[in-house]
Amino acid sequence: MLRTSNLYIKFTIKFQFLFSIDIMKIVRKMEKIMQKELIVVVDFGGQFAKLIARRIRELNVFSYVVSYKNALKKIDELKPLGIIFSGGPDSVNADGSKRIEREIFDRGIPILGICYGMQLMTHLLGGKIGRSGQKEYGQMALNVSKKGDLLKDIDAGQCLMSHFDKVMEAPEGFEVLASTDNCKVAAIENVHKKLYGIQFHPEVELTTFGMKLLENFLFDVCGLSGSWQMNEFVKDSVAEIKRKVGDKKVLLALSGGVDSSVVAMLIHRAIGKQLTCIFVDHGLLRKDEGDQVESIFGEQFDLNLIRVNCEERFLNALSEVEEPETKRKIIGEEFIRVFEEEAKKIGKVSFLAQGTIYPDVIESGTDEAQTIKSHHNVGGLPDHVDFDEILEPLRDLFKDEVRQVGRVLGIPDNLVSRQPFPGPGLAIRIIGDITKDKLNILKEADFIFRDELKKAGIAKNLSQYFAVLTNVKSVGVMGDERTYDYLVALRSVDTSDFMTATWSRIPLELLDKISKRIVNEVDHVSRIVYDITSKPPATVEWE
Ligand code: XMP
Repeated sequence: MLRTSNLYIKFTIKFQFLFSIDIMKIVRKMEKIMQKELIVVVDFGGQFAKLIARRIRELNVFSYVVSYKNALKKIDELKPLGIIFSGGPDSVNADGSKRIEREIFDRGIPILGICYGMQLMTHLLGGKIGRSGQKEYGQMALNVSKKGDLLKDIDAGQCLMSHFDKVMEAPEGFEVLASTDNCKVAAIENVHKKLYGIQFHPEVELTTFGMKLLENFLFDVCGLSGSWQMNEFVKDSVAEIKRKVGDKKVLLALSGGVDSSVVAMLIHRAIGKQLTCIFVDHGLLRKDEGDQVESIFGEQFDLNLIRVNCEERFLNALSEVEEPETKRKIIGEEFIRVFEEEAKKIGKVSFLAQGTIYPDVIESGTDEAQTIKSHHNVGGLPDHVDFDEILEPLRDLFKDEVRQVGRVLGIPDNLVSRQPFPGPGLAIRIIGDITKDKLNILKEADFIFRDELKKAGIAKNLSQYFAVLTNVKSVGVMGDERTYDYLVALRSVDTSDFMTATWSRIPLELLDKISKRIVNEVDHVSRIVYDITSKPPATVEWE
């Protein structure tokens, strides 16, 4: 009897112990979930800061980029479960280089420093940064000497290096995990303090094990579950739009493209008829597009839609303008003016919504990055405007993420999967000055190109495809007659984020068919070329 009760006691103690461990695990997990799994990327001016955030979202963890300028304050507010320091163009040894307060390391939040981010962490914690030997740019072999937490299950691989400065001496308490031929300290960690640094860029595809490394950081080091989904973004955005807008009115520039359609549906879900969509038909749209936009959004989705036909106004404003950036600026300004005029008609409008997405922002120059093209739908408002603020809920997302949002919102797939179309429309696909005749030639040629790609069943695999009317004329022969007509270029690219792109390998027989159809069916076109340049060095658009 005594033996039995002893056994019973032993069993219950053991059982209770096991049970309490499980409970603790569950409680800890619940705490994490309640705390909302968030990773903050601190931007030190690196071109890839948003790409890091996007890669993290791909791993089902919500991620958000903050500027280095007010990072500590933001982090204290947001309470992320992990922090990533981005790369950047500065040298930590130079005066005025971008910094963060040293207290960040006392918060007990795991931190991964990438490139400049690693150098800054090293410098702030007493290590040494220097510049001996060669610069290191391009894909390099990584030699792993110790796996630690960060390089778990990574034996070796190629990584993208892009730096001049390097870590000469890791701070006290850190171990060196990996090197390349030109960089002795390529990865470091302080497991005790959960601080990690890598000289290479895990966020780009050229780093073959980049996603695995990020997984190690998120799931092993930060202990996240990876349960975030795009519908949470939609839910949060809807709540944020409601909060920000209150009972005020919003005007949206709806073009019918993916970005503005998604933003329209997102805002519509938040505030319904307080949103008015203005569709500025500037005449620079593709064949029949204006009517399609009106029927889909005005009739099918029942949005508050006003179509403004102003082709003549835009063509007049663009008359004899050849320079691409001037075209963009004129179109951008006319656009805003049209909005002002329409806004006046419907009373006080507090917000101007736009379908700006992240690649538009980076290419137009952020705080730190250089301007490549000034996309007309980016930036502040002109001086004399009737709007108080701009609403850009998709500003942090990449194109394919915007499509995901669209699907969550129930937008039909044929609309969500549409290829992107630039705000300035065909104006930047007519090289040189724009006339009504040229516009008609381009619309027809572009229609045939798209039509044939669709019929061949390959359009859905191409990221963006269109025709360009060059201002080159060349000699041809049709029947017995000499012709002297336009050269049309066809462009098609494959890309997932539009930051880089390769030209599409369209079958030659199909190109042949398209070329014959355009030359035969479109007056004043005598020659077709296919653009075989990738981005970089070219951009997707010709202007
Ligand atoms: P690029 O030519 O910069 O194009 O490689 C990248 C993506 O951006 C689109 N694009 C624009 N979109 N306003 C826009 O709204 C613009 O001025 C503009 N320029 C380019 C382009 O069509 C591609 O999808």
